[in-house]
Amino acid sequence: MSAAPRSRLVVLISGGGSNLQAFIDAAADPAYPCEVVAVISNRAGVFGLERAARAGIPAEVLDHTAFASRDAFDAALADRIDAYAPDLVILAGFMRILTPGFVTRYAGRLLNIHPSLLPKYPGLHTHQRAIDAGDAEAGATVHLVTEELDGGPVILQARVPVLPDDTADTLAARVLVEEHRIYPEAARLVSLGWGEPRGT
Ligand code: GAR
Repeated sequence: MSAAPRSRLVVLISGGGSNLQAFIDAAADPAYPCEVVAVISNRAGVFGLERAARAGIPAEVLDHTAFASRDAFDAALADRIDAYAPDLVILAGFMRILTPGFVTRYAGRLLNIHPSLLPKYPGLHTHQRAIDAGDAEAGATVHLVTEELDGGPVILQARVPVLPDDTADTLAARVLVEEHRIYPEAARLVSLGWGEPRGT
């Protein structure tokens, strides 16, 4: 019996792409049910593009500053994404707020990872906020993207302790290890049909 076709992932990045690398590494196992078919960055020169090149994955830059409006950028981004006919679109450190039209277009197949235990700390500076609040735990959340910023249905979360001498950087590094574990796993679950929002 031949293997089932793998789910096609387009990964959107803005930076170093360590989560992208986690997907590349996961997909090196033929048993992993997804493959990265393209990478799109809104910033030129970021290391995530180098990671894609090393893995032989097509990569593009779509510079948001070249567009007159958020709608115009998102429309162009959707055109580029659709050229790769993805099953899932993976936001991996993609630091752009997306328009409702874009989110609706990919409803149920647009995933994000956020470096906090949502619903705590949507937005930026999550690790410093967890430290400042005296939280005993921090973590990361993979969720489906909806119009609410960092607010869609949760697929997986991972928790780590906040240690007494943590800085935002040391805590971020501990959380990132867990991000690399849960994000490919969440995409695997969704690709197999287990991650759909329940009760909606
Ligand atoms: C990750 O920690 C991710 O959770 C975060 O950006 C980092 C990207 O790292 N995303 C957000 O803050 C989204 N609001 P990476 O480029 O090495 O994957």
